[in-house]
Amino acid sequence: MEKEVLNLEEASALLGVSSKTLLKMLREEEVPARKIGREWRFSRSALLEWLAGGNSQEYVTAEKVVREYFDRLAPEYDATRVKCYGSDLRNLVLDKVRVDKKMVVADIGCGTGYLTRGLAKKAKTVVAVDNSPEMLSIAQRGIREKEENVRFLLGEAGRLPLAADSIDLLFANMLLHHLIDPGEALREFARVLKPGGGVVITDVEEHPHQWLKKEKSDIWLGFDREELAEWLQESGFTAVEVAELGCDCCTTSGSGREARIKSLIATGRKPEQKTNA
Ligand SMILES: C[S@@+](CC[C@H](N)C(=O)[O-])C[C@H]1O[C@@H](n2cnc3c(N)ncnc32)[C@H](O)[C@@H]1O
Repeated sequence: MEKEVLNLEEASALLGVSSKTLLKMLREEEVPARKIGREWRFSRSALLEWLAGGNSQEYVTAEKVVREYFDRLAPEYDATRVKCYGSDLRNLVLDKVRVDKKMVVADIGCGTGYLTRGLAKKAKTVVAVDNSPEMLSIAQRGIREKEENVRFLLGEAGRLPLAADSIDLLFANMLLHHLIDPGEALREFARVLKPGGGVVITDVEEHPHQWLKKEKSDIWLGFDREELAEWLQESGFTAVEVAELGCDCCTTSGSGREARIKSLIATGRKPEQKTNA
């Protein structure tokens, strides 16, 4: 007979997430659980009921809310971004990662083309993908005349409109914390990369600023470096490294509260195909 009372590891296994993710969910969502002393205890039936209780609908709604948020923000996005991380972040990324004129690179969640512009100068081709038509159309207007090697595509990070094994280097700047299921996107990144290709994710470190969820459509309050490394490994990447990027991301709430959050850079490689010797 199945156990009704579960510990943290058993509850994580039931939901199919790591214990760290479940601990994060306990802080951020209303997962049914009790803390007894220092240990978490869960009821299997309450967890399954919670899981079945319309959360998938909430997820679909959240996806739509994020897209509509960026569609609305698009005309002022560049001014907001300059206050948030200016040009330092792009320079730091392009200093750390070698991009050359033979490479086909992708910028997923390209927004208005902040990283795309820098990549277009260094790569053979840039494929810039975003799911917000308004963000993408500003990127297209700003880049099209200057850089002829950029292709723009409307698409979801978790279901990329790109062929398998087609990209040398894939970048995603400040995208991951807006995704409901970052793991799904990481697996998709691995699918479209060529064997031996690299992923470069830049985002923010874990932080306590809950208001960013409501005001800026953030879904994740940043990421724990170790956990992000585990997710990349689970998605099939090797040589995974997650480190401080060397700049902060600053933002202000409607009521004047400020958040200054450290940025991180996560890199990994899609393994080369095994040859049948
Ligand atoms: C914070 S902005 C970052 C934009 C750009 N990378 C930059 O650094 O300026 C996040 C971008 O991700 C896009 N985005 C959010 N969820 C997405 C999804 N599920 N699939 C594709 N793009 C998404 C948004 O439309 C937005 O343009």
